[in-house]
Order: sequence, then C-alpha cells, then structure tokens
Amino acid sequence: MTILKIVTYPDPVLSTACKPVEKVTKEIQALLTDLADTMYEAPGHGIGLAAPQVGVLKRVIVLDTQWKEEKTVKKKGRLYQLVNPVITKKTGALEWDEGCLSIPGFSQMMKRAKQVTVEALDYNGKPITIEAEDLFAVCLQHEIDHLDGKLIIDKASRLKKNLYIEQVRKTISKDHKEAIL
Ligand code: NI
Repeated sequence: MTILKIVTYPDPVLSTACKPVEKVTKEIQALLTDLADTMYEAPGHGIGLAAPQVGVLKRVIVLDTQWKEEKTVKKKGRLYQLVNPVITKKTGALEWDEGCLSIPGFSQMMKRAKQVTVEALDYNGKPITIEAEDLFAVCLQHEIDHLDGKLIIDKASRLKKNLYIEQVRKTISKDHKEAIL
C-alpha cells in the first residue's frame, strides 16, 4: 500500500488545470490505486480525492461515498476510479456544506447540481457512464472541479479566505519553532 502526501492549500498546484490522460497505462492504474489507498487512510473521512491533491496534474479522480470506519476497521463501499471524467448533464440544484482533504479545518456551503451524468474511463480504460445524485453528485462535482484548479475556498468571502490563510501561516510557523527547538 502506498500512501501519498496530500498537498494542502495554498499550494499553487491545487489551482492548476490538469491535462487529460491519453491512455490508461499501468502507471495510471498505479496512480488510481495509490489515490484510493491515500483517500481511505487520510486523516478525516475523505470520500474523494483528485490527482492534483497528490501533486499529479492529470485528470484522474477516485471516490467512495459509502465507505465506513467502525472503530479502526475500514469497510469499503463502492469505489470509483475515474480517468478524464466529464459532466455531460446537470439537473436540479442543492446546497452542500463541503470540506476538502487539501483544506483541513475548512468548510464552505456550495451550490451544486442535484443530479449529474458523468462520462469517464474506468480502471481498465473502458468507457463508463455514471448517473449520480445528492452526495455522490456533489462529490463528483467537487473532484472534477479539482481537475480544473477550482477549490471550495475560491467561493468563500475574502475575509473568510484571509482568516484561513492566516491560520495556516500561524500553524506553519509554530511547527517550525517546534522543529528548531
Ligand atoms: Ni477536495
């Protein structure tokens, strides 16, 4: 099992648009596996992870909105490993309070479509069409946003954003001091 390091805000890699994958090679499959391992093992209960969050600017995401953790045992739900996902249909509207593994301690109310249709390639490079609604649809929209360099914090007010950045700076300088001492 390979656990990758999750890049955190405000690292500029998170705001960079990703390139489409030309072919689902062994390397892409390894990335899909590592992303899933990293999502399940990350601190907090991550239900989705996009390649740029581990510093890889490729259009690759993983999601499992159903997995559960009972005591220390992780029970997988349905894992989706998607390459070049594209939203082909959006209907309805809802608001969801979203968090992000790359923005620890932050959440933002987001306006999303209630239902989406997504076309992608699966782990084996085969075309797959997904019809999703509610949390699953929200998660797909959140992860696909990552591939375009869009983050939930981009929708926050300037004040809220600045407060978060200030908090991150303080934490970093505190860690530094502790490391030096
Ligand atoms: Ni995220």
